[in-house]
Amino acid sequence: MAATRHFLTLLDFSPEELDTMIARAIEMKREHRAGADQRRFPGQVLGMIFAKSSTRTRVSFEAGMAQLGGHAMFLSPNDTQLGRGEPIEDSARVISSMVDIVMIRTFGHDVVETFAAHSSVPVINALTDDYHPCQLLADMQTYVEHRGSIAGKVVTWVGDGNNMAQSYINAARQFDFELRIACPEGYEPSAHLLEANRDRVSIVRDPLAAARDANLVVTDVWASMGQEAEQKARETAFSGYQVNGELMSHAASDALYMHCLPAHRGEEISAELMDAADTVIWDEAENRLHAQKALMETLLLANR
Ligand code: CP
Ligand code: NVA
Repeated sequence: MAATRHFLTLLDFSPEELDTMIARAIEMKREHRAGADQRRFPGQVLGMIFAKSSTRTRVSFEAGMAQLGGHAMFLSPNDTQLGRGEPIEDSARVISSMVDIVMIRTFGHDVVETFAAHSSVPVINALTDDYHPCQLLADMQTYVEHRGSIAGKVVTWVGDGNNMAQSYINAARQFDFELRIACPEGYEPSAHLLEANRDRVSIVRDPLAAARDANLVVTDVWASMGQEAEQKARETAFSGYQVNGELMSHAASDALYMHCLPAHRGEEISAELMDAADTVIWDEAENRLHAQKALMETLLLANR
């Protein structure tokens, strides 16, 4: 059998495979809404390891696996041996001998890499400090549904150079768009990642200049999970980096804006935009379900 495939970053799939997965997600959403039976994986088990909180990720993976005919198992470090220091390598070997696919939300990206290296089944990164690739599948699906292909478009990231920003850098490469990142000094994404993608990714300090004629504007919280103690300092550093009506007036007239959620109204995004009748943010959240069902289907079939 071929080597086990994992989804730790968007770079684990080719641009063609990603496009196929987005198309499949759109198709599975249509099937689901039509009430089709999607139980193609009866008896298959998804292990879900969460070292950080989650609403969307947990609900979408658990509901998604049920809709595919399988079962999902929630595992937290608090009540497994993971929280008591059992090596990741040993945990991966044992857990993957009993389930068919694993998703992990944790702090260090090295944890998902180590787990995947010792797992006999596909491993999905459901957010680390460095990347959140599942969210990008949903975001790309949402853009395609509303505006068609994102290739050749301009995307503006406003805010922290965090796991989402870094995932957008990978997306710029894989989905072929220009990415402008508006962040305060000291809050840039990894210098290595910026350098490796300098042909299509740039830092533009002024958020209004960064948003000019953009087709998509994206933001996220100023303090991510694990950075709660920095909340106050970050509020100061990021003042002026809010996505609001004024900023969107500089973007293309049909520009979309997205936020992976949870959002802080009045901080990184205005209440007016969050509560606008025509926002696609709720589609973006729902698409986590459809995109990850397509992802699990792809990985489970690849591992047969
Ligand atoms: N966007 C996202 O991953 O949300 P949760 O933290 O609720 O899973
Ligand atoms: N950047 C945020 C994303 C949450 C889905 C965090 O890591 O907390």
